[in-house]
Amino acid sequence: MSLLLDIQHVTKRFASPVTLGDRLAGIVRGRPARRLVHAVNDVSLTMPRGEVLGLVGESGCGKSTLGRVIAGIYEPTTGEVLFDGAPVMRGGRKRTPRVQMIHQDPFASLDPRMKVAETVGEGPIAHGIVPRAGSDDYVAGMLDRVGLNPALRNRFPHQFSGGQRQRVAIARALAMKPDLLVLDEPVASLDVSIQAQVLNLFLDLRRDLGLTGVFISHDLGVVRHVSDRVAIMYLGRVVELAPTPLIYAAPAHPYTRALLDSVPRIGQGRGVFRPIRGEIPSPLAPPPGCHFHPRCPHAGPRCRAEVPLLKPVVPGQAAACHLHDGGVGLGVAGALAAEQRPAA
Ligand SMILES: Nc1ncnc2c1ncn2[C@@H]1O[C@H](COP(=O)(O)OP(=O)(O)O)[C@@H](O)[C@H]1O
Ligand code: SF4
Ligand SMILES: [Mg+2]
Repeated sequence: MSLLLDIQHVTKRFASPVTLGDRLAGIVRGRPARRLVHAVNDVSLTMPRGEVLGLVGESGCGKSTLGRVIAGIYEPTTGEVLFDGAPVMRGGRKRTPRVQMIHQDPFASLDPRMKVAETVGEGPIAHGIVPRAGSDDYVAGMLDRVGLNPALRNRFPHQFSGGQRQRVAIARALAMKPDLLVLDEPVASLDVSIQAQVLNLFLDLRRDLGLTGVFISHDLGVVRHVSDRVAIMYLGRVVELAPTPLIYAAPAHPYTRALLDSVPRIGQGRGVFRPIRGEIPSPLAPPPGCHFHPRCPHAGPRCRAEVPLLKPVVPGQAAACHLHDGGVGLGVAGALAAEQRPAA
């Protein structure tokens, strides 16, 4: 399998609104106040053609931002995204229609004033994928492909249900003949009964069209069914990357373990969530060293001082944790004490 996506040391920071306190601190320090959100922090990973990668983490950890950088919607602050060997963006502009993104809320992502025929047809005409004269048949074919009646193509988004709108959004993306789809929580806004239908549509399309996909979700259960590999994000960094079965059977990072523990299991009555202890720190001021150390039951002195790099643990599985790389700096007694501390 050849490489389709190559993400090289991508960082994305946003300027955040400055508070009065920041301004006063700026005056005292003699330089203007600046607050930076570290949304994505030095992420590198590659994807072969045909793979589906699940991107998982709690809200605010940078999944959508990384998805948007991959899809050429945001330019990275530093680093680069190569798609099929060439940068996905150049001079602040997306270079290729072959990467398409599907957003969480199809109502917000579809123009309410445009009929479905225009929504699905305008991009392919603009990119010369189909001549204007052939657009009607092309759109009808796309709607049929995603399980919508082509006769509905003169309707507006509000005339569809949530699940149908997400199908329209998928048809619009497919109409651009993409090789890579970035799906940002594509079923999170849908009723549970509709979620499985849309996931099955994605699996059918993947099989029939050989699509490569980045599937973003905060739900480890959803990702398990659709992904070949899973990347776990925490505060802007990828902390574990592994084939899907290994993530669930033998998680290598304490955060992955905590995420799995927080998922209610079948057979535990009404499903008991064990929330991960502590709050997610602010991406405005992430903790030094390992970002997870304030919440980690194994944290030692090294964790507070040194950023753990994403390194192979076993072939195919990588984790960013000092436990796999010479320890956390506690010595044997300290490590044993940390083991005995409750995880939540
Ligand atoms: N356009 C933006 N401007 C400023 N901050 C942003 C912007 N987009 C995202 N962020 C911030 O970046 C962090 C990561 O956000 P996001 O990528 O949306 O996370 P997720 O999708 O995992 O919930 C959050 O703290 C969020 O508030
Ligand atoms: S590096 Fe240290 S704090 Fe971070 S996850 Fe590993 S043991 Fe926990
Ligand atoms: Mg998001």
